[in-house]
Amino acid sequence: MHITLIAGARPNFMKIAPIIDEIKEAKARGENIDFSLVHTGQHYDKKLSQDFFDELNIPHPEVNLNVGSGSHAKQTAAIMIAFEDYLYSIKTDIVIVVGDINSTMAATLVAKKLNVKVAHVEAGIRSFDLSMPEEINRMVTDAICDYFFVTSRVAIENLKNSGIKDEQIFFVGNTMIDTLLKNINNFTKPPIYDQLNLKKGNYIVSTLHRPSNVDDPQKLSALLQAIGSLEEIVVFPCHPRTKTKLESIPDLPDNLKLIEPLSYLKFMYLVKNAYAVITDSGGITEETTVLNIPCMTLRENTERPETVNLGTNELLGTNPESISLYYKKLKNGDWKKGGIPELWDGKTSKRIIDKLIEII
Ligand code: UD1
Repeated sequence: MHITLIAGARPNFMKIAPIIDEIKEAKARGENIDFSLVHTGQHYDKKLSQDFFDELNIPHPEVNLNVGSGSHAKQTAAIMIAFEDYLYSIKTDIVIVVGDINSTMAATLVAKKLNVKVAHVEAGIRSFDLSMPEEINRMVTDAICDYFFVTSRVAIENLKNSGIKDEQIFFVGNTMIDTLLKNINNFTKPPIYDQLNLKKGNYIVSTLHRPSNVDDPQKLSALLQAIGSLEEIVVFPCHPRTKTKLESIPDLPDNLKLIEPLSYLKFMYLVKNAYAVITDSGGITEETTVLNIPCMTLRENTERPETVNLGTNELLGTNPESISLYYKKLKNGDWKKGGIPELWDGKTSKRIIDKLIEII
């Protein structure tokens, strides 16, 4: 079995790393299995891409499609054109796509039109918010792919409601948590930790990058003022999209420490030792749930309801005023105690590869 794995942007890299490790283990056991890795080049900055390959021991991709930035249509089209050429040049039994980025959807469309089977890892999650590009990517991908590996029971229901058959759906858990548990003893202290005299539990980590929060400078400014008014130092690793917008915002609070994006092991060190996290990321809400760190999500909805129903995450909406309300709750010691979602146990990639060996 030859597997072609697609990765394009930062949140993909920690999802594919343990799958690759598992393919290698299966091969070492004598299974007839091999893979090639395609990097679409959607993220190209060293800090958003190569650093993750280095730290997570991801092999050099067979090919980098180098599509770079652009509007959604241009980026999606560039990935489709370049990936079609690549797929013509090799023989593969199945394409694995992960997550919900433009690369996920573009590669799925190309493979299916060439009659190649596609498996989607992290299938079936839904925010039901079509203003998010990721929601469109999820829906299109799940409308046409063949095998659905899901992180939660809610995802199973979402897929069944859209007509996917039981036998195509596999509840396996979360590969991002495989990576977290595999690396938890190797998280590394970033230089900023001592520079700012950070100590376990005396600072907050924050990230924002969703267009709905960062593209309007007034909105971004109001959110950052609210985040920067809390008692603790707030460390804010800046996504390139956010950084560009910050240039037009004067007078950010002193408490808010803007830094460059961090590599995986350094970012996770910061999160693991933080008092709390304030974010609009989806993946971080899963990581804080497993690490039992209070997380405030600045969004109106989430495609990962288990992080709220069971985990440490609360959905605050995007009104800056809600930050102080939830912060009071945290300060009063009233934050809920979290639990860990079913099958988020570090063995998800093994379940995926075992299943693929069985079906292909
Ligand atoms: C993408 C994903 C999103 C994911 C996020 C994590 C889509 C639709 N979105 O959003 O799901 O949560 O990654 O980071 O696929 N840029 C750089 N250097 C880079 C990459 C991007 O400077 O290496 C700039 C681009 O020029 C662009 C902006 O950052 O202006 C946004 O990049 P883009 O790839 O369009 O999407 P993200 O916002 O990163």
